[in-house]
Amino acid sequence: MCGIVGFAGTRQAAPILLDGLEKLEYRGYDSAGLAIEGDGEILVKKQKGRLRVLREATHNGEDLPGVVGIGHTRWATHGEPSDVNSHPHLSYNGEVCIVHNGIIENYIELRNFLISKGYEFASDTDTEVISQLMDYYYHGDPTEAVEQARSHLMGSYALGILFRQTPDRIYAICKDNPLIIGIGEGENFMASDVTAILKYTRRVFRLSEGELAVLTRDGVTVTDSYGEPIEKEITNVTWDENAAEKGGYEHFMIKEILEQPEVIRKTASPRIVNGTINLSLKSISDEDIRGIDKIYIVACGSAYHVGCVAKPILSKLCRLPVFVELASEFKYSDPMVDNKTLTIVISQSGETLDTYHALKEAASRGSRIISVVNVVGSTIAMVSEDVLFTWAGPEIAVATTKAYSAQLIVMYMLAMYMGRVRGVATEADEKELIRQLEALPDAVEAILEKKEQVQYLASLFYSSKDIFFLGRNIDYALALEGSLKLKEISYIHSEAYAAGELKHGTISLIEQGSLVVALCTYKPLKEKLVSNIKEVVARGAVVIALANEGDTNIEAVADHVIELPEWEELTMPSLAIIPLQLFAYYVASLKGCDIDKPRNLAKSVTVE
Ligand code: F6R
Repeated sequence: MCGIVGFAGTRQAAPILLDGLEKLEYRGYDSAGLAIEGDGEILVKKQKGRLRVLREATHNGEDLPGVVGIGHTRWATHGEPSDVNSHPHLSYNGEVCIVHNGIIENYIELRNFLISKGYEFASDTDTEVISQLMDYYYHGDPTEAVEQARSHLMGSYALGILFRQTPDRIYAICKDNPLIIGIGEGENFMASDVTAILKYTRRVFRLSEGELAVLTRDGVTVTDSYGEPIEKEITNVTWDENAAEKGGYEHFMIKEILEQPEVIRKTASPRIVNGTINLSLKSISDEDIRGIDKIYIVACGSAYHVGCVAKPILSKLCRLPVFVELASEFKYSDPMVDNKTLTIVISQSGETLDTYHALKEAASRGSRIISVVNVVGSTIAMVSEDVLFTWAGPEIAVATTKAYSAQLIVMYMLAMYMGRVRGVATEADEKELIRQLEALPDAVEAILEKKEQVQYLASLFYSSKDIFFLGRNIDYALALEGSLKLKEISYIHSEAYAAGELKHGTISLIEQGSLVVALCTYKPLKEKLVSNIKEVVARGAVVIALANEGDTNIEAVADHVIELPEWEELTMPSLAIIPLQLFAYYVASLKGCDIDKPRNLAKSVTVE
């Protein structure tokens, strides 16, 4: 979490830093701050609240002169959101100033040490120990101070560092958190994410653990952990900058929902070659796939829900046991993973720390790894044996929609590819999946065209206190995602239940007027679901059902039906998820919620 930026050039730094922070607000928005190298001192301006508060307070940065500076947007971990806990953090004597993304795990020990040496602390943060520790080791050589301090830091960090006595430069280091360096003309940049600097340069490289970058307006030097200079390979970013703009929509979320037909096309088409699925795996051979005896899928949040949808599909097409685990639990569960296991890691950002740790855990036990990632060059993509990119483009709204859809596509294709290699799925199965994949964008488009019906239903129910989502099998996996989407952006309490489990306790929550969204797309168990709907209706629930068009059995028991076209079971989740995303969006919109930046959340979750 948290976003950091840095600029060293000849133009005024503050407006450029604010611009970069705006692109990083998705990483946290509890407070924002800037530190600028001034005339003999480091000027710090920081404020609780959204970036716009800081913008207003500094007149868009105009009030802060200076051409070298760092900035931060915070997702609070240690210490409440407040002015004093906001970054940047100066050492008590004003010599060293830090912006930090990550968590210093041994900060209490370091803090006690520094207090014993006479240091005073102003904030409750873990970050303040870094600036103080660097000051403690500073005797005129910033590099020495950074390296000495680094050797004591435990945890994760990406740091931008200013020293008062070297006002023309920024020092940058990182471990387990991303740090991108941008090379411009007579000006250089650093940022947590390339989107923050794309407006100014497309020439970037990623700093690695153990390296130290020093940015001035004239250039960037990088040294390794022995202090030896190293040449970094510069990548040219091809992302369309406009893809990260709202383009006339009220929110990024609706823009991203509406982009899904195109995203599905972009993710599937390049992998269909001469009528077959070609994943171009680099490391994992067909022989490796035949040797696998179980599959783990590890991920968090919505990406975990994609794993839940993929589990029965993989299991059916590959005839293998498949386990779906929350990444945050997996690492500490002494998992039964070995060199015959395939671990599939799913992550939009490629930076989720829990997921990254799970990947490392699986790899350390010999597991083969395929990751499904959206952000090219992200940490998870870099350390994975094989990566399947979801070509969804930049996703800005905190609540994922288009990346979720792209992940589903990759998982269908991976399942079919492996099934074919293992001799379980047939050529006809593969042709049929390809047919469905090619038809999906238009089918999704057709559902999106009927979005007003979902908007109308949202207008009936947006003041609900609790909303329950029910489903069986794949519909249950979709219910989990529908419920998460709704609660995270609308703040309405919501739960998803396997419909058959309801009677074992949860049904006691159903009362007169409770809203139940029943997912009825999984045909093999539809009759069972009809019975479950009747059970809740008998206790006063109002039911919105998601069902195939013309399904009279469902129409007979539900109050409202959102119709989906007749579709094959395998890729049905790609259609069924669309009304659930729209419902969450319209409910949150009617409630006046901050849809793209829901409270307490951040897009990239780089803490445990
Ligand atoms: C919910 C949402 C989150 C993410 C989760 C994992 O809408 O977006 O639940 O799915 O934080 O993030 P990634 O996919 O970046 O690893």
